[in-house]
Amino acid sequence: MDVLLTGGAGFIGSAIAARLAAAGHRVRVLDALLPAVHPAGGVLNLPDGVEFIRGDVRDGETVERALRGVTAVCHQAAMVGLGLDLDDAPDYVGCNDLGTAVLLAAMARAKVTELVLAGSMVVYGEGSYRCAEHGTVAPGPRRTADLSAGRFEPPCPRCGEPLEPCLVEEDTAPDPRNVYAASKVAQEHLASAWARASGGRVIVLRYHNVYGPGMPRDTPYAGVASIFRSAVARGEAPRVFEDGGQRRDFVHVADVAEANLAALRALAGREPGTFRCYNVGSGQVHTVGEMAAALALAGGGRPPVVTGQYRLGDVRHITADSRRLREELAWRPEVAFEDGMADFAHAPLRGE
Ligand code: UD1
Repeated sequence: MDVLLTGGAGFIGSAIAARLAAAGHRVRVLDALLPAVHPAGGVLNLPDGVEFIRGDVRDGETVERALRGVTAVCHQAAMVGLGLDLDDAPDYVGCNDLGTAVLLAAMARAKVTELVLAGSMVVYGEGSYRCAEHGTVAPGPRRTADLSAGRFEPPCPRCGEPLEPCLVEEDTAPDPRNVYAASKVAQEHLASAWARASGGRVIVLRYHNVYGPGMPRDTPYAGVASIFRSAVARGEAPRVFEDGGQRRDFVHVADVAEANLAALRALAGREPGTFRCYNVGSGQVHTVGEMAAALALAGGGRPPVVTGQYRLGDVRHITADSRRLREELAWRPEVAFEDGMADFAHAPLRGE
């Protein structure tokens, strides 16, 4: 395959670049080297033979040049994380939605019809829960008063009783709870519209909490694994928000890279105009508190502190059902939580 990999210098993108190159594919990376992820002095560490173009996906001319001779696009370029405040909103929408629109328009002109899109579990919002009385329910945003009082579990929206968190399936309706999440939902809709209009084929990989070597160090845009990893490296205790019982699925970046390769391979056999989403999770559910403890233990650092702090944009539990990816694309996660975290506790972060 001849693949254009946007965001290929980033944490997940560079793991994909390495995996694609190792499988013998020709890879061209387009990456803006955003300063938040590539601080001054950051070294670009792409495998031999991978072509690199520095440029922004919002720049149509650069994208057009990057698409020459390409058969498939793996679109990883994005601004991620919760961000600081609403002043970040134009950048999220610009990078994630305008950037995707520019890319899709250029792909239509260049008649490139295969797209793997980096999606996110954030599109599901609070995820899926079961009420003993009312069955499957979708709780609304948690109330500030509840969070301040330490009531972190979302109650049943119908009877107010406690809920049991479930695994989220791909057909669950999107329910974005923050600007980043909204930008990822819009990105999927744009890709779906493009597939219908141009006869393209899309696979969206909705990543769970990705971690592993090369993760950006702690910034307001970094995921919790890198924040805890950086704390351990500084000899500080990881600071766990809420009561530490938030459930997530931490999936290793090597497994995510493999999922991208499987998706790119599968696209060629799909009908024109198809659009299909896949959750990408390890299938092992862990709490944020457990993850903090595993990292602190493996890194020989101080044990985690549970602070009771909360962030309004956070959801309580979100865990994927990744059966579809296993069954349809024959993907298997290889890195177990215990091994991945033990390794990650000592792995270099980007920007260190
Ligand atoms: C994360 C990613 C999101 C990605 C999604 C995939 C970030 C910021 N978020 O969302 O981009 O699409 O996974 O599902 O990269 N926490 C602490 N202490 C801290 C920071 C966070 O306890 O110092 C807690 C938060 O309150 C939250 C949990 O850790 O409950 C996860 O936080 P985080 O990784 O930021 O966000 P996700 O919602 O999992």
